[in-house]
Amino acid sequence: MARITAGIGASHVPLIGRAIDTGDTLSDYWKPLFDGFNFTRKWIAEEKPDVIFLVYNDHATAFSLDMVPTFAIGCAETFEPADEGFGARPVPTVEGAPDLAWHVAQSVIQQDFDLTIVNKMDVDHGLTVPLSLMYGQPKKWPVKVIPFAVNVVVYPTPSGRRCYNLGKAIRNAVESFDKDLNVQIWGTGGMSHQLQGPRAGLINQEWDKRFLDRLADKPEELADIAHIEYIRETGSEGIEMVMWLVMRGALGDKVTELHRHYHVPASNTAVGHIVLESQS
Ligand code: DHB
Ligand code: FE
Repeated sequence: MARITAGIGASHVPLIGRAIDTGDTLSDYWKPLFDGFNFTRKWIAEEKPDVIFLVYNDHATAFSLDMVPTFAIGCAETFEPADEGFGARPVPTVEGAPDLAWHVAQSVIQQDFDLTIVNKMDVDHGLTVPLSLMYGQPKKWPVKVIPFAVNVVVYPTPSGRRCYNLGKAIRNAVESFDKDLNVQIWGTGGMSHQLQGPRAGLINQEWDKRFLDRLADKPEELADIAHIEYIRETGSEGIEMVMWLVMRGALGDKVTELHRHYHVPASNTAVGHIVLESQS
């Protein structure tokens, strides 16, 4: 049986990828940020997950405004890196896990969540930056990845409650796959940030820390947060945090927090990072 053993939350700021790709991680600006990921890099090298179910948002890289799926699951064999801004990062092709992805699609759609099935898709910084944070700069990624894209770019976005419940459905799906696999689920994006308009640069440390404080033991409270509160308190892009709720929902009732890091700023963003181990 496949099992979701742990979850990771991590911001996906593009400039973090740039710092890694240009060898700038030890500079005064970046070192405190990267030091907060040392624990996880060591931990994941020991955990050796077989598959990462990687919940992220596409930033108009794979999906233009022509077509915006609310939830999209990547069922392809491979996914090429691509990006806005600096362009495609010099990182390896991402290898998928089509057997498990199709099984999750079948199970989750039958649990009444409508997923868009994607057989060809490029993946942007939302997915590749967290991979680089955890695995550095390998020639080949040491893990298979199922990209799972959530629309947090064009309103209406899915609610935190729906994302949390979707996580539970993903857990049911993975646990009914009859191959022994160590699966992790990651939620990327956040924390507070606003990239445009009069409030560009907004960061709300107090709100972010209260979110992190409740993620392990009080996820129901977080699931009740309305999208309007995310916008008001955490800036227009803080809504990315609903993807952390997909991750939390997929870990079951009881979790242990293994590690936490919070750093301000990286580019325009408050960077949050958490590692949760499933106990159920
Ligand atoms: C930044 C953060 C993001 O989450 C993103 O998708 C793009 C840019 C930033 O802080 O610059
Ligand atoms: Fe983003």
